[in-house]
Amino acid sequence: MWKRWIIIGNEGLKRVVGRVVQKGINKYKRGYSSTKREDFPTLKDHPAAKANAAEAVESQRRVQHFTAAAPKTRPLMKEFQVYRWNPNLPYKKPFLQSYFVDLSTCGPMVLDALQKIKAEDDSSLSYRRSCREGICGSCSMNIDGLNTVACLKPIDSDTSKPTTITPLPHMFVIKDLVVDLTNFYNQYKSIEPWLKTKKGPEDGREYRQSPEDRKKLDGLYECILCACCTTSCPAYWWNPEAYLGPAALINAYRWISDSRDDYSEERLEALKQDEDKLYRCRMVKNCTAACPKSLDPASAIDEMKARRVSK
Ligand code: SF4
Ligand code: SF4
Ligand code: FES
Repeated sequence: MWKRWIIIGNEGLKRVVGRVVQKGINKYKRGYSSTKREDFPTLKDHPAAKANAAEAVESQRRVQHFTAAAPKTRPLMKEFQVYRWNPNLPYKKPFLQSYFVDLSTCGPMVLDALQKIKAEDDSSLSYRRSCREGICGSCSMNIDGLNTVACLKPIDSDTSKPTTITPLPHMFVIKDLVVDLTNFYNQYKSIEPWLKTKKGPEDGREYRQSPEDRKKLDGLYECILCACCTTSCPAYWWNPEAYLGPAALINAYRWISDSRDDYSEERLEALKQDEDKLYRCRMVKNCTAACPKSLDPASAIDEMKARRVSK
């Protein structure tokens, strides 16, 4: 070996060792095959969550298999390429920065990796997050080309390829993965997302609703306003000021569908009188494909387009 070292030098030796290590890693990976299949009965009606859970379990099994087989000195490093842009350095163009995370000491989701990078590697990295369980909608970003919330997206434990993380598409970037949602929230506000009634509750205390009427809100009320749908919609990319986008529209439909609300007709009329607000939707259905909560904004939009204003 030392004779070879004399010929190829330090860098060459590193490359040879790297190749041997990678060969070992590939061998361990090839040796892995999953047999167990999870069902996740509680996620029965949530296909996106079910797919994520299955992916997370599978990914963690792979990590455990590898770390059990490989010596402790050889961490399972995964590359994350993260979009960086700093408004304080406007002359510097945005770029993808590589970070390497040891998956054997990291949680299962992409948000866990970002947290680890920020805590241990680079505190200047900016992104939004709060609940870390798919409730607040703040950690939405584009991961490997798909809009989703990072806390529900399992890390792909295949270390032979990097995971690329960029901000939500077609949005103004404030810093790194943080985008400006002012227009998005103004559009949400414009649909008046609160109960509007013409008279007080019958019992003087609360507005009641039958279980059947309550059921009509399923698939609508769960929206977490993450903006994954709106920022994946081509119609919204082209007309972000005029077209309300799928997130605002599914919420408009949520209030139109609420039996306790006395302004359904007025709400519908307000959407229909300005063609751009609703009819810019071309039924591409990117929105429905992107929703991490398995909601279907495209169908809600379709229902509103088809519904006549009765007065
Ligand atoms: S179905 Fe409509 S709202 Fe959804 S992505 Fe397509 S154009 Fe946008
Ligand atoms: S409909 Fe889905 S993707 Fe769109 S904002 Fe709501 S939760 Fe997010
Ligand atoms: S941190 Fe709340 S949805 Fe991801």
